[in-house]
Amino acid sequence: MRKAIRNDDYLFKKVYDYVLHRIERKEWKEHEKIPSVRQLACEMNVHRLTVLKAYQLLKQHDKVYVKDKAGYFVQSNVMNNLEYLDLDNPIVSAYVQKNHLSEIHQSPVSYHFSQALIDPNLLPNHYFSDYVKKVFDLYPKILATYSTVQGDLELRETLTQYFISQYKTHFHTDDLLITSGSQQAIHLIAQTFIKPGDVVLFERPSYSAAIEIFRAQGAQIVTVDIHPDGYDLEQVEYFIKQYKPLLFYLNPTFHNPTGYTVSVEQRKKLVELAEQYRFLIIEDDAYHDIYFDHAPPPPIYTYDTAGTVIYIRSFCKYISPGLRIAAVICPSSLMKALLTVKSLADNGSPLLNQKIFLHYFSSLRLQQHLEKIRIALQIRKEIMEEELAVTDWKWISPNGGLNLWVKLPDTLPTELLLSKSIEQSISFVPGQVCDPLKQLSSWIRLSYSYVNEIQLREGVKKFVAVAQSLSM
Ligand SMILES: Cc1ncc(COP(=O)(O)O)c(C=O)c1O
Repeated sequence: MRKAIRNDDYLFKKVYDYVLHRIERKEWKEHEKIPSVRQLACEMNVHRLTVLKAYQLLKQHDKVYVKDKAGYFVQSNVMNNLEYLDLDNPIVSAYVQKNHLSEIHQSPVSYHFSQALIDPNLLPNHYFSDYVKKVFDLYPKILATYSTVQGDLELRETLTQYFISQYKTHFHTDDLLITSGSQQAIHLIAQTFIKPGDVVLFERPSYSAAIEIFRAQGAQIVTVDIHPDGYDLEQVEYFIKQYKPLLFYLNPTFHNPTGYTVSVEQRKKLVELAEQYRFLIIEDDAYHDIYFDHAPPPPIYTYDTAGTVIYIRSFCKYISPGLRIAAVICPSSLMKALLTVKSLADNGSPLLNQKIFLHYFSSLRLQQHLEKIRIALQIRKEIMEEELAVTDWKWISPNGGLNLWVKLPDTLPTELLLSKSIEQSISFVPGQVCDPLKQLSSWIRLSYSYVNEIQLREGVKKFVAVAQSLSM
């Protein structure tokens, strides 16, 4: 019985996604008639009621509309377009989109639950000032030189040894590139590999800046839902066959925003799919070391033997967001192209930052620091969960990362909740910002990592009170 329900849901979702993707890819244009219920049911080999249910939901989501006796038509999305273009300024390119998240972050609030950043008081600020002096003693002319484009050799060698010893994998220092944060790595990858119209597979929800980076490059985004236990791999394979994506961007470890982690079995299977269907996996691993009780499974790239994974490991979140250091491990056949784009972007990340990072990363302090922040963040997560326990909201308690991904009652208006919360000096991220399809409006991301324990308790209490005042 359960299986039958799951199967119906699966078919319904398949039809819904199929229609939505065709609309998003503009294969079906605004005001164009879409296939009748009977036609699509026949084409997709599903029951007519399944198609009808999908069409009704698409109508509810304003993606299609009905004309009496004429059928279903693609809704015009003028409103959506306007939101993304800065029409007032003629010199701004049409590709420039609003970065919703940075707008929310810029709101001057006291309770920053929108920031997926670690409280600066938990980061090794004092030690860095010692290292700066040491770095200038060791390399007196450091500010008078460029780094190499690929990154400082000493740092690349240290990181190569680190990854090899951690995961028993083998790769050469020349396969490792230093970028200015993982965001730059995502940007370089999008610029290097994506042409307008190329299909990119994304998790839903996903890291919002990555969505906007690939969109700005003209990619067509196809989404795969991420669940607490990973993906529906049958659905992944179906979409791969159907849409032939060039790459799959994923964040499988303490995923932002959900905190979910993909299992070892699924990691291995994804590599097999990438080899079989020849697409690239872009593994974004910004939270790997921020775990509570158990270390997460090894990264997907460690199962790759055919050069199908580009691995991005950021050290920004838990060492220093300001130093902007991330490592990219890239199959040698693709590195040259990536380096060309990196050289055009900035000619190499700042050498001073790389050396400061190197000296901290090689010190014994790093391990102690990691142990400390794991405990501190776990306590903060628990405080947030204790304060939210009075509500009927739902979330899966994450084993690492910086966020709770919370389902609110459908009746609670999230946009109004955001504006009322900001009036009360509280910020959070609405689910829509993390959804390539701009839905998930009853979900929110709450970060427990940025404000201290006292503020956290106070802020969550206030936030719950704001939400309760709107539910009455
Ligand atoms: C999944 C993910 N990737 C990448 C980044 C960018 O991080 P950075 O550029 O600081 O390394 C973030 C930041 O929130 C993130 O959540």
